[in-house]
Amino acid sequence: MEVPNNISATAFLSSQSRARAAEVSKDSYSGLWVSPETIHLWDDFAENVYPHDDLELALRCRFFLEKLQSFVKENANSIFINIAAGFTSYPFLIEPPCPSIEVDYPHVIDFKSSQLKKWQEEGILPKREIEFFPTDLKNASNLSDLRKAVGDRIYEQPSYILMEGITYYLDIPILKNLLEIFRDSQVKGSLVAFDFWKPDIVNSPVFLKLEKYFAERFGFEARTYNLFDAEFISSIEGYEIVEITDVAQQEKVYCTSELLQNYESLLMENYAVLIKV
Ligand SMILES: C[S@@+](CC[C@H](N)C(=O)[O-])C[C@H]1O[C@@H](n2cnc3c(N)ncnc32)[C@H](O)[C@@H]1O
Repeated sequence: MEVPNNISATAFLSSQSRARAAEVSKDSYSGLWVSPETIHLWDDFAENVYPHDDLELALRCRFFLEKLQSFVKENANSIFINIAAGFTSYPFLIEPPCPSIEVDYPHVIDFKSSQLKKWQEEGILPKREIEFFPTDLKNASNLSDLRKAVGDRIYEQPSYILMEGITYYLDIPILKNLLEIFRDSQVKGSLVAFDFWKPDIVNSPVFLKLEKYFAERFGFEARTYNLFDAEFISSIEGYEIVEITDVAQQEKVYCTSELLQNYESLLMENYAVLIKV
């Protein structure tokens, strides 16, 4: 698959970021997705937007990965669902037998599933149980199919649902619809985790450059970003907040650098983990 000129290209960008900072991300397989084209895209993004996407996305991955690893350890029959999975490697970074379901656009799923099959056959990746669910999250009928699939698949198992790198690209009614699907399917003690951008990000220098870059390069119009704050998260029915943190705080946890402690030079990503009550 060539790097597309649409929002799915961000999946390539993210995997290159995780690969560049693999000692932080702990995603030892991210380099599999790297090609001269993804390196070129990443370098162009770094030059035109900001040079710290590697550290930012590596920290994001590490944060969600460690939550997932703990959840799988504590829940013997757990299931992992990754909405807008892109080229993340979580199923290979957790202990079996936890099955995974990966959801993304059909063209991303087609490419990813065939590559994973090949790499598992070649012994490059360990064998894992992964179901793929091709969908357009903006399509109502796809969402109702997703509701059924998630409900059937989770049944009474504890689940960890991740939405990483996606909440800001979805209209709020779609995000609410997804949260309702999770609430109706997940059993008590299950987790939903996601990253999000707060409304004040619109004044940040890095965001302004990103907005321009994504519009010019991927045709993603600025006004369509979905921004929300902790108040919205507190209002999500059926869940309690376990943790809300941000990338700058996580740099202090996992790194000795201070690259993301300066407002001018970072994209302020926030992370939330919610528990079903
Ligand atoms: C920034 S990437 C994040 C990928 C991955 N979660 C990560 O963190 O590396 C955004 C992902 O969302 C997917 N995506 C965006 N809009 C979507 C939609 N309407 N339906 C399904 N997938 C979508 C893209 O294809 C892409 O894989």
